[in-house]
Amino acid sequence: MTTPVRDALPDGVPALTGDVLAIRGGRPLRGRVDVKGAKNLATKAMVASLLGETVSTLRDVPAISDVAVVRSLLEVHGVRVSEGDEPGALVFDPSDVESAHFEEIDAHAGASRIPILFCGPLLHRLGQAFIPDLGGCRIGDRPIDFHLDALRKFGAVVEKLPSGIRLSTPNGRLHGANIHLPYPSVGATEQVLLTAVRAEGVTELRNAAIEPEIMDLIAVLQKMGAIISYEPNRVIVIEGVEKLRGYDHRSIFDRNEAASWASAALATDGEIFVGGAKQQEMLTFLNVFRKAGGWFDIQEDGILFRREGELRPVVVETDVHPGFMTDWQQPLVVALAKAKGISIVHETVYEQRFGFTEALVDMGATIQIHTECLGSHACRFGQRNYQHSAVIAGPVSLHGADIVVPDLRGGFSHLVAALTAEGESRISNVGIIARGYERFIEKLQVLGADFDVDG
Ligand code: EPZ
Repeated sequence: MTTPVRDALPDGVPALTGDVLAIRGGRPLRGRVDVKGAKNLATKAMVASLLGETVSTLRDVPAISDVAVVRSLLEVHGVRVSEGDEPGALVFDPSDVESAHFEEIDAHAGASRIPILFCGPLLHRLGQAFIPDLGGCRIGDRPIDFHLDALRKFGAVVEKLPSGIRLSTPNGRLHGANIHLPYPSVGATEQVLLTAVRAEGVTELRNAAIEPEIMDLIAVLQKMGAIISYEPNRVIVIEGVEKLRGYDHRSIFDRNEAASWASAALATDGEIFVGGAKQQEMLTFLNVFRKAGGWFDIQEDGILFRREGELRPVVVETDVHPGFMTDWQQPLVVALAKAKGISIVHETVYEQRFGFTEALVDMGATIQIHTECLGSHACRFGQRNYQHSAVIAGPVSLHGADIVVPDLRGGFSHLVAALTAEGESRISNVGIIARGYERFIEKLQVLGADFDVDG
């Protein structure tokens, strides 16, 4: 029995599909919000449960729609999913994994890119897998060539069909491979991890992604019985094993959500305690936060964020970990628009991630987007006519506007902009924000924001 996405969200968490937020800005956000498990780990750990012969339990699972999508995709493949022994725990029973009809997969994949990560586990369990055309935020072409190249190296046969991609293992069990990623892609690294752990022989992955979410996924797989070593210079070595068992794991906290609320405190001149946030995974963000005029206090159970004096302009270059995370730049840009001077954001991970600035310009921000690499080093997108550097001139006062949310992080930056703006903003398509921000409506209420939800 498959749980429709709407019903998979816990009681009281609105799907917000058609809703509009009417926000009246000007109030500093004050109070405490708690962040739970990371969207970008929880969804992958859920897929990893397919690899185990026995039941897995994932704890601190965020109540977000991306989790609901993966839950229903697991259920169409025969995994029984149930609530665990504490709030935020989900239990996965993969004992009856079965193949699913591509229409069912397509119907449940929705706007997610996660189906691509089902390949390895389903090829191990069933000898075949199907991927529909992928969704995800429109922040670049987002090809899957690294994923398919890796799967072919493991011995999978890849067939492109009008409805998607079918994979199979006509030669029996997948085998280890030597893979060198052209770019340290998070998704492709996860693809290799989720496939190599049960492939015959050893896999050596070079130029791997090493984000904290990757390290946490490695911890999950090791708990299941996998043998994975992480060597210097982005090398990961996996010794394949025949069988894996289930895991019991508490997800790493969502550092992207934590950084978003920190930027909201900075832009609204408020004070927000983010429960569950930790310093180690946010070192680079905290440096930029301080340079931009922020102040933070690391405490046992979280981090307190606020402004210290005037906002200051900064130069930020997004990069793979341990660089400044690409998902952190959007909410921060709102604070930079209010800083006295010129800030620069050089986006080096995605080639088209400044669409969200159009609405900020409509609200009165002075932001110009350039195709040059306006940072300390040239990136993959230089000389290729991609709008991937932003010049932000401040200070400006923002005013209310009607906004349609374009993507997840862009949507959160629009919330922050509306909360700092004079007058009222009407923000529609806010359902996208629920894909990655748990209970954000309640959190805005707790922080004293002045708004209404117009259903
Ligand atoms: C993950 O996306 C995250 N999503 C993204 O967060 C995050 O921005 C990104 O990693 C980078 O940290 C999830 O974990 C669900 P990539 P992913 O593969 O895996 C190119 C959010 O807001 N590439 O590291 O899709 C790609 O086009 C989301 O939470 C290829 O060219 O990112 C991009 O330019 C947004 N070919 C770059 O690599 C491939 O086969 C990084 O992509 C794969 C990727």
